[in-house]
Amino acid sequence: MQTLHVGLAERSYPIHIGSSLLSRADLLMAHIPQKRAVVISNTTVAPLYMQQLVESLKSIGVQSQTIILPDGEQYKNGESLNTIYDALLSAHSERSTPLIALGGGVIGDITGYAAATYLRGVPFIQIPTTVLSQVDSSVGGKTGINHPLGKNMIGAFYQPLVVLADTFTLDTLPDKELRAGIAEVIKYGLIRDLPFLEWLEANIEKLLARDTAALQYAISRSCQNKAEVVGADERESGERALLNLGHTFGHAIENGMGYGVWLHGEAVAAGTIMAADLSHRMGWLGADEVARVRKLFERTGLPVAGPKLGAEKYQQLMGLDKKVSNGKIRFVLLKSLGNAVITGDVPQTLLAQTIEACSA
Ligand code: NAD
Ligand code: GLY
Repeated sequence: MQTLHVGLAERSYPIHIGSSLLSRADLLMAHIPQKRAVVISNTTVAPLYMQQLVESLKSIGVQSQTIILPDGEQYKNGESLNTIYDALLSAHSERSTPLIALGGGVIGDITGYAAATYLRGVPFIQIPTTVLSQVDSSVGGKTGINHPLGKNMIGAFYQPLVVLADTFTLDTLPDKELRAGIAEVIKYGLIRDLPFLEWLEANIEKLLARDTAALQYAISRSCQNKAEVVGADERESGERALLNLGHTFGHAIENGMGYGVWLHGEAVAAGTIMAADLSHRMGWLGADEVARVRKLFERTGLPVAGPKLGAEKYQQLMGLDKKVSNGKIRFVLLKSLGNAVITGDVPQTLLAQTIEACSA
């Protein structure tokens, strides 16, 4: 097992990464003072891993209440949140009882928001079970739900007390989900870690084949990058926004197609190609570098073009982005590979050209 740290003064926490960590409830013990915990999962993950976790918690004397939500991005909404509140209130769940998220980013985000708001805040523990959640969403404290008018529009910054990433759980992850998670891994290389990008270019097949050592390395290097960014800018007043490479276009794709039709990572992949193309049109990335980015996503089996929603629709949806400031859409673009910037100064014509060239 490897342990990394997110440094946020009194809210610092460890990220444990390794195999069979579901059986290591002892790593959570310090955060479950009253020997009660609530585990929130979904109809896909619970049958696979809930029993193992509940037994592991029992072995340290902790009784669990379980809440099982329907599976899917389309359920990351107010209704599911109310299901959680109803269950917590009915069971008289108390302020010191932690909520444990067992699942991917959807379960992590919604559980985190429930934890941030139930009784004005209860302890929160992340046990991510997808690549995407192990490398990105479980770390950094962004929690929330979708609104019909925009993705992740309702939420809170609320840090977990500990993250337990059990790489064994990835064995059951569908290939499509594995690939979607790798989109966020590639992101770290593109925005701030060129040597990691080069490592990914050399090792992408190993990751796709679920080579244990390669997965462990990619997860820990991604978490290290994320921990550094979050430690420096928890509330996204600067550098953290760079983690949204590909997300401005990506969220427009997810929303425009209807939540759940495109996986988040797939939309981020197509969105990242759009951001790379726009960076080229801005005179920053060379055409060969855009081709290099496209090739890596293609080898990963991810989409390299967005759906044809039309420039107007893309722009309308992108106008809902949380980075919009003074009515201006701000884009994360690449000055060079491994070096991202945020800019609101994108000529309309270039944006329209990118949308046209990168949607099919
Ligand atoms: P997800 O949570 O929907 O999980 C993907 C699918 O895999 C689901 O069907 C799930 O039930 C299933 N699954 C999960 N673990 C499994 C396992 N071990 N074996 C088999 N099946 C398993 O999707 P995701 O890609 O993990 O997360 C996407 C969500 O994360 C989006 O809502 C996105 O907005 C959010 N996100 C949040 C942050 C953040 O910082 N909070 C960052 C990135 C993405
Ligand atoms: N996934 C983007 C962030 O955590 O800031």
